[in-house]
Amino acid sequence: MIEAVTRTAGVLDGRIAAFLARETAAFEQAHPRSRAALQGGASGWLGGVPMHWMKDWPSPFPLVAAEASGSHLIDLDGHRLDDFCLGDTGSMFGHSPPPVAKAIRRQARHGLTYMLPTAAALEAGRLLSRTFGEFRWQVALSASDANRFALRVARGVTGRRKVLVFNGCYHGTVDDTMVMLEGGRTRPRPGLVGQVADLASKAVAVEFNDIAAVEAALATGEIAAILTEPVMTNSCMVLPEAGFHDALRTLSRRYGAVLILDETHTLSSGLGGYGRVHSLSPDILVVGKCVAGGMPAAVWGLTPDLAARFAAYDAARPEGHSGMGTTLAANPMQFACLCATLSEVMTPEAYARMEKGADRLAKGLSAVISRVEAPWHVVRVGARVEFICAPGPLRNGSEAARAHHPRLEAAVHLGLLNRGSLIAPFHNMMLVSPVTRNRQIDRLITAFDAILTELFA
Ligand SMILES: Cc1ncc(COP(=O)(O)O)c(C=O)c1O
Repeated sequence: MIEAVTRTAGVLDGRIAAFLARETAAFEQAHPRSRAALQGGASGWLGGVPMHWMKDWPSPFPLVAAEASGSHLIDLDGHRLDDFCLGDTGSMFGHSPPPVAKAIRRQARHGLTYMLPTAAALEAGRLLSRTFGEFRWQVALSASDANRFALRVARGVTGRRKVLVFNGCYHGTVDDTMVMLEGGRTRPRPGLVGQVADLASKAVAVEFNDIAAVEAALATGEIAAILTEPVMTNSCMVLPEAGFHDALRTLSRRYGAVLILDETHTLSSGLGGYGRVHSLSPDILVVGKCVAGGMPAAVWGLTPDLAARFAAYDAARPEGHSGMGTTLAANPMQFACLCATLSEVMTPEAYARMEKGADRLAKGLSAVISRVEAPWHVVRVGARVEFICAPGPLRNGSEAARAHHPRLEAAVHLGLLNRGSLIAPFHNMMLVSPVTRNRQIDRLITAFDAILTELFA
């Protein structure tokens, strides 16, 4: 009997399986301490780790980290890894940037949380406006929270119920955005734990880059807000087509919807984020993850116009809980870290280094892809680089979903990890920090070359 030969993104499936089996064995052999530390669930954590995402790495069990500094991470087995995951953007400016570490040491002696503003809080507000533009800011502990609160404001001021999101988006664990487009209809995504609300009654999903669909949704008069990243970064990276953001701005104004730009990942684009670099003008800006150099913090800001509308709404609403805010948000440690990051870490010089390194990485990966004639491509948004196991460019979330090949990607990720380069687990994403060295970038390119040469041989 002749067996059918199947391929995934140009690679023989049998070859992927053999590669994965060998790399899995190599990982197991090289990480006895990580394995022993995790074994038996003796730690008391549900599922063995303190956050379930930690099991989503391609390795047979997670690495246990010992420490990290700058652009490298050392695991419990003593391996020194070049870190291109950087906490999936939380540490985009490098692990423990010295000004942030210093600010933490200083603040640690003066109290950790008081629910009162500080002089540093007022300074951070000023620095936020200098960096991102004139907004009226609030602080949250995570970008998920910041998006939740931004949506409340949008619904409050418009009196409308639905949020328009793009198919394949991710804006954190915000229930309202956990929808997808299927057969032309908005549906809840599969897999949501304990989901009871009818999400399609609160959200509409349309495809990124599809302006006609955006307008049709807005024309219903039900849309309180468009919530979007400037570039889709959470499927396989999808760039906006020319005119897309201008059209979003024009249409959102025409139909009275609030435009929320979530720059949590696209802060990689340059100083002030993609919006500032490309002169976008959202009504609400959200930035999380690395905005305080790796300490838990996110900010959301309203334009002065929207802030005035919100103030009027706020004054007229009944007494009671607003549904916004959490106890530990706006603590003095966040402001110490925000000030240090905004004034000393997130600098034009830092972005220039990130840009240069990421360009080197993107060109190196593209050259490998061309040499082995893989039907793949590379996308870069400033310091953020992604290889995609499909031809590009991708136009929308559906194309991005089809470009995703979990087993093949796991093989490449694990191959890179075993060769000393850590990349993000959920997508094929690599970040270049201001302290990432050329030799680390070149090592990653060399490893990618070795892996693709074997897979495509
Ligand atoms: C664009 C975007 N917004 C918001 C979030 C949520 O961030 P957090 O998990 O820190 O709440 C993420 C997380 O990946 C994100 O990619």
